[in-house]
Amino acid sequence: MPEQLIEVKHLKKYFDTKHGTLHAVDDVSFTIGQGETLGVVGESGCGKSTLGRMLVHLLDSTDGQIFFKGEDITRVKREKLSELRRKMQIIFQDPYSSLNPRMTVGQVLGEALKNAGTPREEMENRVFELMDTVGLARRYLDTYPHELDGGRRQRIGIGRALAMNPEFVVCDEPVSALDVSIQAQVLNLMLDLQEQRKLTYMFITHDLSVVKYISDHIMVMYLGQAVEKSAAKELFAHHYHPYTKALLSAVPVADVHHEKKRILLKGELTSPINPKPGCRFAARCLYATEECFRDNPVLTEVTPNHYVACHHVRDINEEL
Ligand SMILES: Nc1ncnc2c1ncn2[C@@H]1O[C@H](COP(=O)(O)OP(=O)(O)OP(=O)(O)O)[C@@H](O)[C@H]1O
Ligand SMILES: [Mg+2]
Repeated sequence: MPEQLIEVKHLKKYFDTKHGTLHAVDDVSFTIGQGETLGVVGESGCGKSTLGRMLVHLLDSTDGQIFFKGEDITRVKREKLSELRRKMQIIFQDPYSSLNPRMTVGQVLGEALKNAGTPREEMENRVFELMDTVGLARRYLDTYPHELDGGRRQRIGIGRALAMNPEFVVCDEPVSALDVSIQAQVLNLMLDLQEQRKLTYMFITHDLSVVKYISDHIMVMYLGQAVEKSAAKELFAHHYHPYTKALLSAVPVADVHHEKKRILLKGELTSPINPKPGCRFAARCLYATEECFRDNPVLTEVTPNHYVACHHVRDINEEL
C-alpha cells in the first residue's frame, strides 16, 4: 500500500443561503495514496468542485480535517500555507475562463514560474521547457489563449499548474469541455506527467469512461456525501449502491452483444438546503423503507476495501 499523501476526515462545507443552510459537502472522508488517482464522480451539484476547492485551499472548510503528508492544512499558519499551496494545484474545466485573455502563453507561464521563484535569467528557458513538457509548440509563445483551440488552452492550464512543481493536483473536469478526439490526447498527457513526476491526482468528472481510464480508486458522491468507494476495477465489476448502479447503467458498452438495461432514476431530487434526516437518495430509491427516511446510512465495508452507504445493501445484492 503506498503512503497516503492526502487524508480527509469528516470534511464539511455548508453555505448560508437565503433559503437556509446548503450542505454542499457533508461529512466526507477518504485517503489518496502517493502517486495514485482518486476519481470522484456524481451528478451536477453533488459537491465535487466544492470538495476539490477545499482540498487546494481555495475554499475554507466548515468542519473536518485535511491532512497533506500527515499535516492538517486546515490548521496551519499563514506562512506555511503559501508553501503548501504551491504543492497543491488545481486544473479547471474551462481553461478559457481561468486564463487572463490579455496575457500570452509566454506571459501566463512566465508569471506562474515567477510565483514559483524562478530567477529572471532562467525564465526564457524555463518557459520553453514547460511548453515542451505539456506539448505546446514553441511557436505559440506570443499567442493569446483565444487564438488557440480548447486542447491547447488546457495545455496552458496544465503548464501553469506544473510551474509550481506540485505534488498533488485536483483536476476538476479537465477534459469535459474538449472535443472527444482531443480528450484522449490531454488525458494521456496527464497520465504521462503523473508517471514522470510522481503526481497524485484527485480527478473530478461526471464522465465514467474517463474515470475508468484514469483512476486507481473511485468515490461516488450523491448530494454532498460519499455513497460508494472502492478500487476502480472493483467498482466497475461490482457496484452495490442503488445510485451507483443507476449511474453505471448509463455508460455505453462497447460490446454490442452485451445488452445492458439502463436504470432510470425517478422521484424528486432531495434539496441540499436544510436536508432532512435519512438517506439523501431515499426519495429516488426503489428499495427505500421507513428506516431510510429516518437514518442516514454510514459507509460500511461490504467486501475488503469496498465501502457502501446503504441500509439495504445486503438485501439488494444477493452476492453479499
Ligand atoms: N459559493 C456558493 N454559495 C452557495 N452555494 C454554493 C456555492 N458554491 C457551490 N454551491 C452549491 O453547492 C452545491 C455543490 O456545488 P458544486 O459546484 O460543488 O457541485 P459539482 O458536483 O461540482 O457540480 P457540477 O458537476 O455541475 O460541476 C450545489 O448545490 C451548489 O449550488
Ligand atoms: Mg463542478
